[in-house]
Amino acid sequence: MPKSHSSVWLASAPLRPLQGEIRVPGDKSISHRAIMLAALADGVSHIKGFLEGEDTRATARIFQQLGVRIDMPADGERIVHGVGIDGLKAPPEALDCGNSGTAMRLLAGLLAAQPFACQLIGDESLSSRPMRRVSEPLAQMGADIRMAEAGRPPLSISPVAQLQGMAYASPVASAQVKSAVLLAGLQAEGETCVREPHPTRDYTERMLQAFGVDIEYRPGFARIRGGQRLAATDIEVPGDFSSAAFALVAASLIPGSDITLHGIGIDPRRTGLLQVLQMMGADIALQNRRQTALGEVASLRVRHAPLHGIEVPMTLVPDMIDEFPVYFAAAACARGTTRIRGAAELRVKESDRIRAMAEGLCALGIAVQETPDGADIHGGLPVGGEIHSLGDHRIAMSFAVLAQCAKAEVRIVDTANVATSYPGFVAQMQRLGFALQEV
Ligand code: S3P
Repeated sequence: MPKSHSSVWLASAPLRPLQGEIRVPGDKSISHRAIMLAALADGVSHIKGFLEGEDTRATARIFQQLGVRIDMPADGERIVHGVGIDGLKAPPEALDCGNSGTAMRLLAGLLAAQPFACQLIGDESLSSRPMRRVSEPLAQMGADIRMAEAGRPPLSISPVAQLQGMAYASPVASAQVKSAVLLAGLQAEGETCVREPHPTRDYTERMLQAFGVDIEYRPGFARIRGGQRLAATDIEVPGDFSSAAFALVAASLIPGSDITLHGIGIDPRRTGLLQVLQMMGADIALQNRRQTALGEVASLRVRHAPLHGIEVPMTLVPDMIDEFPVYFAAAACARGTTRIRGAAELRVKESDRIRAMAEGLCALGIAVQETPDGADIHGGLPVGGEIHSLGDHRIAMSFAVLAQCAKAEVRIVDTANVATSYPGFVAQMQRLGFALQEV
C-alpha cells in the first residue's frame, strides 16, 4: 500500500467557542466487517456509509486481490459481488493490511480455513504488534500460521485439510481475537464458542446474523456452527463514536461550546467514554435515538461544562479502549487528578498509547505519573510545544484537541496516519471552530 508522507499540524486555542453540526465518517470496525462478510456471501451486497479510511480501504483492496469484485459507485459506498464462502481465489502477492490490526487479526481467522496459502503484511507499527493472541487459538483449531520473531507479523498462512471447532476461553478482552476465532469457526467442523473475560464489541456476531448465519451470542459469549453460508444483505454503517470522541471532548473543554454530532453508533461496548465524561461533569445529551441491526444510533449534543478528575472504573476500560488518548487530553484539562488503571492493552495499540500520551502531556507541562497499566494525570493548563504522534492517528488527533486549551501553539509532527481512521479530520474540526492548520 502506498504510504502517505508525514505531515505537520499547528494547533492553538480557538478564538471562539465550538459551534455547529457534523456527521463524522463511518465506523471503522463495522466497515471492515461489512467488506469481509459481503465478500464471503452469496449475492451482491450494498454498503452505505463505508469509511473511506486507509485501514478499511486496505481491507477492500485485499478482497479484490482475493478475486472479489467491489464497485465504488460513490464516496462511502461499495457494491460487493460476493463469491461465497468457497469462492475466494489464491492472491498473486502478499496481502497488505497497512496500519490495521483489525484487518490482520480478522483476516487471520477468515483465511486460515481457505484452501490456499497467503501472507499478511503490514506497516512498521502493525509489524510490531502481537499476533499470538490470534495464532494460538487458531492453531488449536488446526490452522497453520507462521509468524516472524516474537509472534509479530508477517503472518504466513498455509492451507490445512479442515479446521475443527472448539470452545475457547479468551484470556484477553479483545473483539479482534473473538472475531478471528468466530470467522474460523464459521468454516470449521462442528461448533465453536468463545468466552471473554469482559464483553467486547459484538459487530461480528450481529453482522453474521444480518447475513443470515445462525449464531448465538450474549455479552461475553458467542457460539457458531461451522459449514453455514452467508446470504448477501445491505449494510448501513453508522458514524464512528471513536471519531466523534475528538469533537466531543473538545466541546466539553472549550467554554461556550455547543455542538451536535449526528448519526453516531452508541453501542454500550463503544461508549464507555460517555459515561466517564459524564462522571466528570460533562454535559452530553443523546437525541434522536433509533435502533438499527448494528446497534443504537443517536445525535450527541455536547455543551461545555467544567470537568473534574475521577478514578476511572476498571469495568469501563474495555468499553472506551480506543478513546483513552483523547481521554488523557480531557483529564489534562480537568480540575484535580484522574486515575486510570487496568488499561495495559493500550501499550499494544498502534503505538504504546500510555507512553505516547504521558510523554506528550509532560512536554506540554502537564504532570503525569505513568504506571504499567495506566496513569495518574494531574489537570492543569497546557503550555505550547512540539509533539510527535509516533505515527499513531489517535495520538495526533488527541493533541489537536488538547492544543485547543493550550496557552501557546502546539506543533504536532507526523500526522499523515490520521487518514487511516478519520479522513477530513482537519477540515471538519476547522468548521466547528478549531484553531488547527495543516502545514
Ligand atoms: C476493534 C477492536 C479493538 C479496537 C480496535 C478495533 C475491532 O481491538 O481497539 O480499534 O474492530 O474489533 P481489540 O479487540 O484488540 O481490543
